[in-house]
Amino acid sequence: MNPNRKPLMAGNWKMYKTAREALAFIEALTPMLKPFHDDEMPDVLLCAPFTALPFMHQALPKAQTDFSLGAQNMEAHDEGAYTGEISARMLKEWDVEFVIIGHSERREYFNETDETVNAKIKAALANHLRPIVCVGESLAQREAGETDAWVEKQVKAAIAGLSPEQLEWLVFAYEPIWAIGTGKVCEADEANRVIGLIRKALNNAHVRILYGGSMKPDNVEGLMAQPEIDGGLVGGASLQPESFFQLIRAAMPVRV
Ligand code: 13P
Repeated sequence: MNPNRKPLMAGNWKMYKTAREALAFIEALTPMLKPFHDDEMPDVLLCAPFTALPFMHQALPKAQTDFSLGAQNMEAHDEGAYTGEISARMLKEWDVEFVIIGHSERREYFNETDETVNAKIKAALANHLRPIVCVGESLAQREAGETDAWVEKQVKAAIAGLSPEQLEWLVFAYEPIWAIGTGKVCEADEANRVIGLIRKALNNAHVRILYGGSMKPDNVEGLMAQPEIDGGLVGGASLQPESFFQLIRAAMPVRV
């Protein structure tokens, strides 16, 4: 954590939770956060499936808890004949603030490339959505010593053509692919080192950069103690209110 950047704890629910299950999650998490004042809290974000977002949007004012909503993907066009896709405009209607772009699962299973990632970032920014841009290397790349060059290439491609002002809207997430869903977390000092490289490539001290990949209640403290790590992008441990609450606690800028 760095006092100059507000920590952000973001859940990426992936393809888990129906709208009803999402509402039950909010109901369970809200009372856990009630005792904390705004200035004690990190930013908290739930990146939910599209079908849950409108219901969550309606439930949040009643819960009186300050979560932000995020989507996990979007299409780069504002509208058109793109069967099955969702645009930034559609997300904005439900006060969605963030959108994950270029998650490794989308790059691997849905053919996302550095070019589509760049196009989606530009479309998100044009619609005042904050992209959470995911980068990270495979196990083979790490073992071949290619991590730094690969991650730097992904970062540079993602931000191609963006102005310094636009960069301020971005969040990055370093998600080593071999750590995602495997229970094998990246060592905290190594995650800190790679995130430092990302920050250097961005040439911007304000952009928040998260760590993602098997972040859990038992390893979050070590990760959050690192000066470059501004929070987490969390899969498995964000699905249960109890474990997500523990991660939020570990990201509180003022410990209570
Ligand atoms: P896990 O926390 O389940 O490893 O997932 C990380 C991730 O992919 C978040 O986007």
